Amino acid sequence: MSDSIRILLSAQQIHARIQEMGAQIYADYPAGSLHLVCILKGACFFLADLARAIDREVVIDFMGISSYGRGKTTSGAVRLTKDLDLPIEGVDILLVEDIVDSGVTLSYLVKVLEQRKPRSVRIAALLDKPERRRRPVKVNYVGFEIPDEFVVGYGLDYGERYRNLPDVCVLEGPHVA
Ligand code: IMP
Ligand code: MG
Repeated sequence: MSDSIRILLSAQQIHARIQEMGAQIYADYPAGSLHLVCILKGACFFLADLARAIDREVVIDFMGISSYGRGKTTSGAVRLTKDLDLPIEGVDILLVEDIVDSGVTLSYLVKVLEQRKPRSVRIAALLDKPERRRRPVKVNYVGFEIPDEFVVGYGLDYGERYRNLPDVCVLEGPHVA
């Protein structure tokens, strides 16, 4: 028996929404240095598309964080696996994340980054599962609110699989714990 996959958001829907998000971000940041901070690995495709939808100069940096084991629920412990390459004092930071679930990862990250005295820290998330929130997080730009279902594709994985699916899909089946 194999896991089944159902499309929740098509590549086309995702693309159209990201263009809108980019226009909104462009309008909200008129001047100054804007650093897009991609949270590895899930947000890599979102970062690549969002950055090209923002019609201004941006700096791109990466941060690695791990709060998940191989399963579907957070371990609650957040681990930094890669720090930023660049200093952020005085600059606007836009954290680019694939999905906000419990909020544990982002609330931790915002705290870490604020200690470095950036001018501002905001969050852009492609997906939001508000029902699952355990820590309050202000997500400034949300692509889509989705129900409490486990999704893969467009960067999102289940045990490192399915990241390269072009659509966001719901994963169901006997192997999904
Ligand atoms: P949080 O700390 O619980 O908000 O977890 C956020 C992280 O958990 C995301 O960056 C994803 O890597 C992962 N995650 C949460 N929900 C899903 C999902 O439905 N599919 C795949 N990964 C998920
Ligand atoms: Mg992630």
